[in-house]
Order: sequence, then C-alpha cells, then structure tokens
Amino acid sequence: MTFALAAVEPRLPSARGPLSQAVCELLSQRVSRHHLERVEVPLTDADPLGLDLQLALYICYELHYRGFSGVHPRWEWDAGLLHLRGRMEDVFLAAVHQLVDGREDASADDEMAVLSVEPARGEGPSYFLRDNGTWEQMQEYFVHRSLYHLKEGDPHAFVIPRLQGQAKASFVAIEFDEYGAGRGQRLHQQLFADLMDSAGLDSTYLGYLDAVPAQTLAVVNLMSLFGLHRELRGAAVGHFAATEITSPPGSRRMAQALRRLGAGAPCVAFYEEHVEADAVHEQVVRAGVVGDLVAREPALEPDVVFGMRAFGALEDRLADHLTGCWREGETSLARPLS
Ligand SMILES: [Fe+2]
Ligand SMILES: [Fe+2]
Repeated sequence: MTFALAAVEPRLPSARGPLSQAVCELLSQRVSRHHLERVEVPLTDADPLGLDLQLALYICYELHYRGFSGVHPRWEWDAGLLHLRGRMEDVFLAAVHQLVDGREDASADDEMAVLSVEPARGEGPSYFLRDNGTWEQMQEYFVHRSLYHLKEGDPHAFVIPRLQGQAKASFVAIEFDEYGAGRGQRLHQQLFADLMDSAGLDSTYLGYLDAVPAQTLAVVNLMSLFGLHRELRGAAVGHFAATEITSPPGSRRMAQALRRLGAGAPCVAFYEEHVEADAVHEQVVRAGVVGDLVAREPALEPDVVFGMRAFGALEDRLADHLTGCWREGETSLARPLS
C-alpha cells in the first residue's frame, strides 16, 4: 500500500530585513563541515521584538524542528549561525525581561494562583471572538495559532531530558496526551490540522509563516528559546505550566465562539479537547511538575515565575494586536486571507 505523504520540510520564507536576509542567504549556501566564520550582521539597530529579528530567530530555531526544503540539515549545528542566533537571543531575552514585572518575591504557587483567576471583564481575543467575532476574524486567529498548534508539544518537549524524578514523570504524562496518547490521529498537532482543513485554511506546517506579524512569531520563539537552553529549564517549566493553567477557560470561550459561528465539528472538537484534557493537566502540572521541580531545585523558582510571566507578557502583546486590529475593522495578518 502506498500513502500520499505531505512534504515534511517547509519552504524557506522571504526575508523581512537585514537579519532574516543574512540567515536566508547563509542557509541557501552549502554548509561547510568546519564553518567557524562569524556572521557579521550588526544588531544595534534591530528591534528585539520586531519582524526582522523574530523571523530570523524563528528560522534558526526551525532547524531544530523540521528544517527547510533545500537547506542542509547540518546547518542545525553550524557554529557561525549559532553565534548569530545567540546574539539575537540575548537581545530578545533582555527585551522580554523588560516587559515582565520583575518582582522577585512571588513564589511559583502565588504565580499559579494569579494565573488561575479569570478577570471579571476579560478583553482578550477569546472574549472578542465569543461575543463579537466574525468568521473571518476566527480564521485569522487560527492562522496565528497555527504556528504553535501545528507543532504543539514539541517546543516544550526539549526540556524533558533536563528534568528528573516526579517532575519528569508528570511532564511526560501531560505530553503523552498532547501527542495523542499513542494514536496518531489524536496528536493535538493533527487535531489542529483537521481544524484548519475544516475551516477552509491551509493545514501545511508553517504554511502561514509569511502571513503573521512579529507578535505571533515571538510567542513561539519564546518557547523554543526556553526549551533549547538547559540554563532556562526553570523558565521552560514555568511557561509550560502557564500554558496548561490558562488553557481551559480560554478553550471554553473558543468552543462557545465556534458554536455561535456554526463552525465545523473538527474546529469545536479541538477546543473541547483542551477544556477537558487541560483541566486535568492543570492539576498535574501544579503539584507534579512545578511543585516537584521547585522542591528539588529551589534556586530555579525565580526562573519558573519568570517563565510564567514571560508567557503572559508575550500573549498580552499578541492579544492587544489582534483585538486592536479587529476593533478597527482591519486584518491582523501581514497578508490578508484571500
Ligand atoms: Fe494540546
Ligand atoms: Fe494540555
């Protein structure tokens, strides 16, 4: 029996400035086995949260996921490119620290309690879509989220070898569900691809990389940054916890919005799955992952709190962009959906 398989490697996107240009040009060259040349691109004028740097960083990180068609896989560990990536990560991380409330005193438990409280009058995109959103705005939301959901589970999975004991066991128990609990059709990545198909959108991995703004790229880059650095494992766990804890109420609103708009069953099913599964994940992540990690490595607690706040800060920037555009009746995408 033969199967028609979709192309595994996405296409390299178009550059959006000098940094992404430098990365794209490099990747289109033959990789040298002993590439130790520095990539001389100045970062002094680069906006740490702007489209050029975020896209350049996204491309660098993607080499650790699926790579790009026509780009040699060996670029993943090219010292020259990693040096450039490290410089971009430094300015990105510094910008995230500036966005995040730097109170040092909060415990991870306090921070998780804050994340659990829903505002009486919420203003994020799930509220907007539930109450006033159009089907076109819902499609835009899917496009933004496709960058993450089509690789859901993967950015956080990098942290697994850096954990021990109960924290590792609980982390993997949650990821087991994200990865479909043994069933390929139930991979949350696949459930989101089904949603995209049902919504009349392109479910190709990274199919909309050139359609999303910097705020969307930054949300995913943050996960890759935390996941790929053992030094940042506390922040990765905090980010993971924040993702799970905030998911059920937001997913419930999304399911309500989709029912109001008469969306197809796969669209509603994706969010209903997250209302149910993440209610359990929330409990497991609190005690099993965060509780055990902080007990085992107390020095990591400020990083765990930072990871939770960094998640919130970048999600808020994306939310402000989405609802700001929609209130003005404008598209939130870099290129409108045809
Ligand atoms: Fe999920
Ligand atoms: Fe989950």
